[in-house]
Amino acid sequence: MRGVRDGGMASLLALALLCLFYASYSVNGVLLKCFCDICPGDNYTCETDGYCFASTSLENGVITYARRCLDRRNWMPPEAPHFCNTKPGIYRSQASICCDKDLCNQNLYPVLLSPDTSELSSVSSDDDDATWVTWKMALTIALPICAICVIVMVIYHIHMTKKRPARHFPDDSLEAPDRPILGGVTIRDMLEMTTSGSGSVGLPLLVQRSIARQIQLVETIGKGRFGEVWRGRWRGENVAVKIFSSREERSWFREAEIYQTVMLRHDNILGFIAADNKDNGTWTQLWLITDYHEKGSLFDYLNRSTVDTNGMIRMALSIATGLAHLHMEIVGTQGKPAIAHRDLKSKNILVKTNGTCAIGDLGLAVRHDVITDTVDIQLNNRVGTKRYMAPEVLEETINMNHFDSFKRADVYALGLILWEIARRCNVGGIHDEYQLPFYDLVPSDPTIEEMRKVVCMDRQRPSIPNRWQSIEALQVMSKVMKECWYHNAAARLTALRIKKSLANYGAMEDLK
Ligand SMILES: Nc1ncnc2c1ncn2[C@@H]1O[C@H](COP(=O)(O)OP(=O)(O)OP(=O)(O)O)[C@@H](O)[C@H]1O
Ligand SMILES: *[C@@H]1O[C@H](CO)[C@@H](O)[C@H](O)[C@H]1NC(C)=O
Ligand SMILES: *[C@@H]1O[C@H](CO)[C@@H](O)[C@H](O)[C@H]1NC(C)=O
Ligand SMILES: *[C@@H]1O[C@H](CO)[C@@H](O)[C@H](O)[C@H]1NC(C)=O
Ligand SMILES: *[C@@H]1O[C@H](CO)[C@@H](O)[C@H](O)[C@H]1NC(C)=O
Ligand SMILES: [Mg+2]
Repeated sequence: MRGVRDGGMASLLALALLCLFYASYSVNGVLLKCFCDICPGDNYTCETDGYCFASTSLENGVITYARRCLDRRNWMPPEAPHFCNTKPGIYRSQASICCDKDLCNQNLYPVLLSPDTSELSSVSSDDDDATWVTWKMALTIALPICAICVIVMVIYHIHMTKKRPARHFPDDSLEAPDRPILGGVTIRDMLEMTTSGSGSVGLPLLVQRSIARQIQLVETIGKGRFGEVWRGRWRGENVAVKIFSSREERSWFREAEIYQTVMLRHDNILGFIAADNKDNGTWTQLWLITDYHEKGSLFDYLNRSTVDTNGMIRMALSIATGLAHLHMEIVGTQGKPAIAHRDLKSKNILVKTNGTCAIGDLGLAVRHDVITDTVDIQLNNRVGTKRYMAPEVLEETINMNHFDSFKRADVYALGLILWEIARRCNVGGIHDEYQLPFYDLVPSDPTIEEMRKVVCMDRQRPSIPNRWQSIEALQVMSKVMKECWYHNAAARLTALRIKKSLANYGAMEDLK
């Protein structure tokens, strides 16, 4: 019994030490300014609550330098980011350095181990800070590992004496810092490893790059405004690769940034895997890698297939659930900001194999900054797809100082999408052919003027066939969609309300 009490004391002490140690790391409130090679719009600088970093990588004989911000939310593991630990001169294909003074990464070019040496070359940079940071990093890893070893031994001891389960500490905190990355694991494994309990931001940059560099492009599957979409293979898994040209760097960066918002991962939001830029000196290719869904977009799917009433409700519910998650603000350190999509349409929703959906194309999304009650980017007022624009967007009367305005415009678009789905609901062999909203009122690729005439002046909305009123599920759908596309934005349902209505109806059906 005494052994147990001593063990408890020791583990408390170790915990206290650990806490003290981390506390010293989280007190710097000011943002660090770093050099950023992919931020032309911000005069090649970025700001971070973490470190500045510089990396050098070698791929197919091409050397790429990257110098950017490494935000705390991208630290993996959070206490000692891998990315600060691929020490220069040790690996042949990857080296990176972190530092913590303003613009300290501007002239850092971490050296690779040259192919004909087997010995370690020394850190070469014109900045002594970098060496210091490397040391600090080494300490950051060594100390917690020691502490954790002690704790684990203590816990093991308690466990042996008292025969009770004692798994207080996650196993991956014991992970060796220099373990080669990507050894025989799947993307899902890695995401689970990095996202379990840590608020899910995505894979660390180095891992993202490694994945990107191992992908083989197989076939093009689509072309949008900002780039081409390919099906690619990574170790036998399908992935979707959206390739942006260097002119669309901002879109690429923004989309990757939004996907990596804390807590964004969700069943009904397209799963982000990695972003990478490949530069061969004259040409930059920007990749955005996500889950691949073989059924394609909702637009593709509805054009090809019909759904039954259950399938319709499940599909609609999944989209409303995804949108409600985007729109929701979650408070707390592991919270997420409210996000508005601004380009919701059937082409930007993907259909999964079980008929539920995931919302994609987050490149135009805006995040709500609660502290200043503003949106996190400069707005140009009319973005999105004209056909799906809410009346207040078409008329430019939307109040951009009020974040809810953007959510309400999303809900209007959701109403049109519900209509597209409902038309394809097959009851007793009867259904409508697939059509885009307003197919009968505006030409393909309509202008703002044409849309405004129909939506704002004539106040037209997609027509609801009489037959829908005799089928309960379609009745529910038509009621919801009408409440999504009111002219008065404030009167529209919220995504959460829609989700609840559809879920209630689905649950009622299940009971029958
Ligand atoms: N993750 C994915 N899995 C499977 N297919 C996809 C995926 N992402 C995109 N696609 C396919 O690629 C097409 C093009 O997508 P993209 O988002 O580039 O353009 P878009 O949505 O058609 O137009 P826009 O540029 O207006 O968004 C989609 O319509 C879809 O068919
Ligand atoms: C951009 O940065 C350079 C130095 O890096 C500075 O001389 C210049 O004034 C900056 N320009 C603007 C518009 O901030
Ligand atoms: C870089 O890639 C582009 C496009 O793939 C190609 O046209 C160009 O020749 C390449 N340049 C070099 C230096 O390899
Ligand atoms: C559909 O598949 C996802 C995983 O891709 C799963 O989480 C979800 O529960 C499934 N939904 C239904 C209704 O089967
Ligand atoms: C449905 O698909 C066909 C074949 O790809 C295409 O020609 C047609 O335009 C699509 N329907 C709509 C409404 O876009
Ligand atoms: Mg799209």
